[in-house]
Amino acid sequence: MAQLMEMLRVTLFGSRNDAPGGGKGAASFDPSRDIPCLAGKVVLVTGAAGDLGRTTAVQLARYGRPARIYVADLPRGSSDEEELLLRRIAREAYGTDGAKAAPESLGQAAGGDDKDNATRTEFRFLGLDLGSLKSVRACAAQFIAREERLDVLILNAGIIRVAPGTTSDGYEAHFGINYLGHALLARLLVPTLVRTAEQQQQPDARVVVVSSEGHSVAPKGGIQFDALKGPCAEMSYGQRYGQSKVALIGLAKQLGRRHPQLKVAAVHPGRILTGMAASLRKESLLVRITAPIAPLVCVPVETGVRNHLWAATSPDVVSGKYYEPVGIPDKESEMAKDDGLIEKLWDWTEKELSL
Ligand SMILES: NC(=O)c1ccc[n+]([C@@H]2O[C@H](COP(=O)([O-])OP(=O)(O)OC[C@H]3O[C@@H](n4cnc5c(N)ncnc54)[C@H](OP(=O)(O)O)[C@@H]3O)[C@@H](O)[C@H]2O)c1
Repeated sequence: MAQLMEMLRVTLFGSRNDAPGGGKGAASFDPSRDIPCLAGKVVLVTGAAGDLGRTTAVQLARYGRPARIYVADLPRGSSDEEELLLRRIAREAYGTDGAKAAPESLGQAAGGDDKDNATRTEFRFLGLDLGSLKSVRACAAQFIAREERLDVLILNAGIIRVAPGTTSDGYEAHFGINYLGHALLARLLVPTLVRTAEQQQQPDARVVVVSSEGHSVAPKGGIQFDALKGPCAEMSYGQRYGQSKVALIGLAKQLGRRHPQLKVAAVHPGRILTGMAASLRKESLLVRITAPIAPLVCVPVETGVRNHLWAATSPDVVSGKYYEPVGIPDKESEMAKDDGLIEKLWDWTEKELSL
């Protein structure tokens, strides 16, 4: 019965929510006050065209001003569309007037009249299809060719409730895109993250893994390894999404353990009406029927991204932990706490990625 209720909740809303206004950490984390100066740093956000990813990039740029933010998302089709996306992010970060008056804000330009006149962040687009391991390798290679350092890697992109299907490499779609593509990207970029940490007097290089409370709806055993090379059509969509999100928590724990030079945190952003909610509405009659009450139980994108922003910048992050809501650790399901499962996932992943 409890699992049925959980599945209904995830069917309706995608995931459990922070209480409106957030938990203790959310209530006290204020991006405009708490994001530290990130001058000179380099950030990469996956799914940065989507609502949570884009708003994360915007707020980091507005309040922390890293040197560069890489906006990694599905290829846009033309360089004009990539440019439009980057301009939109710059405009949201620095204001329409700023963008008009200083088109170089897309590059390294001195800030105008805002906050502290610090150098504005440069945004760069990276084509990334997490459903293709070839594309992930190409994206990582492109990044490495352009950058010596990486300070913050935010594994944010994700899909929910897609019909049973597989990625171009033959893995179940949620698992392949949400987990496996990210696992490969992280492994390819860890050497750059570690090098960055080791070159700092006060090492601070991070990975933020965006999981979901929906991980608690994973199938029996957490991850059905024997079924991952196929559509997992016998599972509910909640289970397919859930096992990919359990795996992401496992990824955060393993990266944290294996790379003590890094700070790695998994987060659940809360229940937010984003592009993801729109795809849920499209696919589910139940979600369409209950749409009128959804805004009552959801928080704005700006509240949801406090999880991402806190994990990307707070000195209080303990590496290898899952946080839900902001700053509250250890609320993951028993499955996600199972070290045997997490070790098995690591070994499976190593084998699949032939690393
Ligand atoms: N919204 C919520 O209530 C909620 C709750 C719990 C967890 N989350 C998690 O938060 C993260 C961000 O989701 P969101 O709510 O911001 O949804 P969103 O607006 O739909 O953003 C998802 C992003 O992922 C990108 N993406 C999808 N497939 C991809 C692929 N194959 N390769 C690369 N990028 C891909 C999308 O690209 P396009 O736009 O170009 O398709 C989009 O930019 C997800 O990991 C999600 O599971 C969200």
